[in-house]
Amino acid sequence: PADTRWFSLDDIEKAAQNTLTKEHADFFAGAAGDESTLRSNRDAFERIRLRPRVLRDVSSRSTGITLLGRHLDTPVIVSPTAFHRLAHPDGEIATARAVAAANTVMIVSMAATTRIEAIGEETERWLQLYLQPDGDFTTALVQRAEKAGYGALVVTVDSPVLGRRERDHRNGFHDLPAGLRCENMVDDAGTLRSIAMDASVTWESVDRLRAVTGLPVLLKGVLHPDDARRAVDHGVAGIVVSNHGGRQLDGTVATIDALPAIAEAVPDGFPLILDGGVRRGIDVVRALALGASAVGIGRPVLWGLAAGGQDGVSQVLDLLRTEVDEALALCGVSRPDHLDPDVIWTGPPTHR
Ligand code: FNR
Repeated sequence: PADTRWFSLDDIEKAAQNTLTKEHADFFAGAAGDESTLRSNRDAFERIRLRPRVLRDVSSRSTGITLLGRHLDTPVIVSPTAFHRLAHPDGEIATARAVAAANTVMIVSMAATTRIEAIGEETERWLQLYLQPDGDFTTALVQRAEKAGYGALVVTVDSPVLGRRERDHRNGFHDLPAGLRCENMVDDAGTLRSIAMDASVTWESVDRLRAVTGLPVLLKGVLHPDDARRAVDHGVAGIVVSNHGGRQLDGTVATIDALPAIAEAVPDGFPLILDGGVRRGIDVVRALALGASAVGIGRPVLWGLAAGGQDGVSQVLDLLRTEVDEALALCGVSRPDHLDPDVIWTGPPTHR
């Protein structure tokens, strides 16, 4: 049942705060260092002003896109986030059901609190990985993902070490509460491993992963156009332009500001997903106009889960899809793939 008090993602964030302890709310909300990247992801979107076209007959519209050969009903996909059962007892299973209903993609985190096999077969899902120092462990998990019907692997490459999130240190939040664990980190011997951040990974590590799987491999956390070029050269199937929602290196460029140079560096039509601070349909329009094929959302999914489980996540995805549709119409554009930089104001700054 739709909660009619929720008119924006912001409303859902507020509803989520009432259901979470301070330490869990801070874990979801927080970012590294001064959290300047977290703020700049939002500020950068707001600075970009739109220049709509008029009198274009937008009576027949679609928000659908094609991503890695698959038709989706919305250009908004779910970025990988840890610990969905910390937000709601139904956790990743609820998220997957909402994603299936929206006909989009869920990127399941390596730090999921549900076994990957149990997460919605009905959903297009990709598995996010941190390459582990024990390559055999990574390979075994990849083989499970293949068997379970996952459609792609997303290797997070912005994390040679873990970003320091001071809120978690101040709150003493280091472990999942009793009863929850990273279910996919249990090895064949039944031992729970912790997720290692491997500072020694290189492009060869990506090549080695590609050699052990037939699944498309995407890289998540690229901000430099030369790295985007190298990714293409290494046969990667797509890139997630991401600064990890500000949780890794504080002080990075906002993702929307990094996007144009990356779009320039890769071949036309190469799958580029942008995440970080997407909260409105107009943000989606901004990102697609500047070269993204799709966008991802991280925290809003956790807010939806915390505020209303599967229905809460559905509302997050539905609100954004509705806003995208309206923003397209108001820009004079009838489908996402017709957006281009023409809709972006390039004159002197008009905001703040
Ligand atoms: C994340 N993110 C993340 N990324 C990843 O590759 N693996 C992971 O396990 C996680 N876990 C995670 C937990 C939490 C609580 C957050 C907020 C984020 C980063 C995530 O995929 C994404 O890049 C950002 O969340 C996008 O920014 P927004 O939408 O949260 O602003």
